[in-house]
Amino acid sequence: MFLWGASTAAYQVEGGNTNADVWALEHLARTAYREPSGDACDFHTRFAADLALLAALGLNAFRFSVEWSRVEPAPGEYSAAALAHYSRIVDTCLGLGLTPVVTLHHTTTPQWLVRAGGWRSASTPAVFSGYAQRIAAALGDRIGYLCTINEANTPAQVAYDGPDPRWEPMLADARAYFGVDPAAGVGTFVAAGDETTIATVAEAHRRAVAAVHETRPGLPVGVTLAIPAVSAVDGGEEAAERYVEQVLHRPLREMGTVGDFVGVQNYTGLVFGPDGVRPGGDDLTDIGMALVPGSLADACRRAYAVTGKPLLVTEHGADLDDSQDHRRAAFIPAALAELGQAIADGVDVRGYLHWSLLDNYEWMLGYTAFFGLVGVDRRTLRRRVRPSALVLGGLARRGLPGA
Ligand code: BGC
Repeated sequence: MFLWGASTAAYQVEGGNTNADVWALEHLARTAYREPSGDACDFHTRFAADLALLAALGLNAFRFSVEWSRVEPAPGEYSAAALAHYSRIVDTCLGLGLTPVVTLHHTTTPQWLVRAGGWRSASTPAVFSGYAQRIAAALGDRIGYLCTINEANTPAQVAYDGPDPRWEPMLADARAYFGVDPAAGVGTFVAAGDETTIATVAEAHRRAVAAVHETRPGLPVGVTLAIPAVSAVDGGEEAAERYVEQVLHRPLREMGTVGDFVGVQNYTGLVFGPDGVRPGGDDLTDIGMALVPGSLADACRRAYAVTGKPLLVTEHGADLDDSQDHRRAAFIPAALAELGQAIADGVDVRGYLHWSLLDNYEWMLGYTAFFGLVGVDRRTLRRRVRPSALVLGGLARRGLPGA
């Protein structure tokens, strides 16, 4: 059964994740975060109604992440209440006919782990696989897919981009707060682009896959990677090649081939030229991403060519507010028509999960980006289904165009 659904991440929707590294960053004197996450969408208490909305659209899958800092608030100390909470989300999905897709690490890292050296510490892969084992044991009998690390090629991206001077004041404050170099946390978005971090994240993925296979044989487990479409104009070929190798192909080989599937996350296309990189089209969203309908199929073709693994589209979407929702409503079927063609050509894609179910906390941008199929009123937290959600629901009922 092809999965049709929407994705979320714990920190961006739950609210009140005070034990996570990002919470600390948001509250530093010289924070680069536009506003604190606060209650987010209060998904922590409202999940049942939100999932009912999703199911009513005609979708059959839901991706969410477990907030590590909630279930393991101190090293080795697991919260039975937090595990029971995520178990209830799984059961609610099943009751509504939704296949749960669960992510172990989506951007945020427990503050205690950052203090212990985070994603540069040689002991972190073992700590992460211990957590993976606990979640596989608690939820693994009732879920469809388990994703280890979301966009695990983020450190490779940071390595390619180089440090961003705008974040230096926040990093200085964070160094004082955590007592270590904060770049050692993936969740900071300023994760070090050094080889140690890149290798630690890859090793954490590999060990988590082994732990999950041992605990729940048969449960598909894989990594998710951010994969834009890439092209080059005269003079940009070399930069494009370097980008593809460092940020896409090496992570696909080192992590994508380890596990049972690859989670493909695509938002846009990039064009490399003599003066650097620019958006791969003129149809821009508010935060300057180009809507390129063919980029998703392109990303899937690449991921499949490099890994030969089944693929799940774990994120694809656009930040468009109510006044521009018609652009999302056109973008989704256009991208899926091309994805259908890729499937017809033999690319093994098992599902499409749109980012996101709800307008949510867009990290440093705060609440100023609107990725939701469902809008959220920031004052009342009331949900409102956007017309584009009905378009996705219609596609789910009819099946993939072209495939
Ligand atoms: C991330 C999400 C984020 C989305 C939109 C993805 O890279 O996984 O957490 O909200 O992009 O920017």
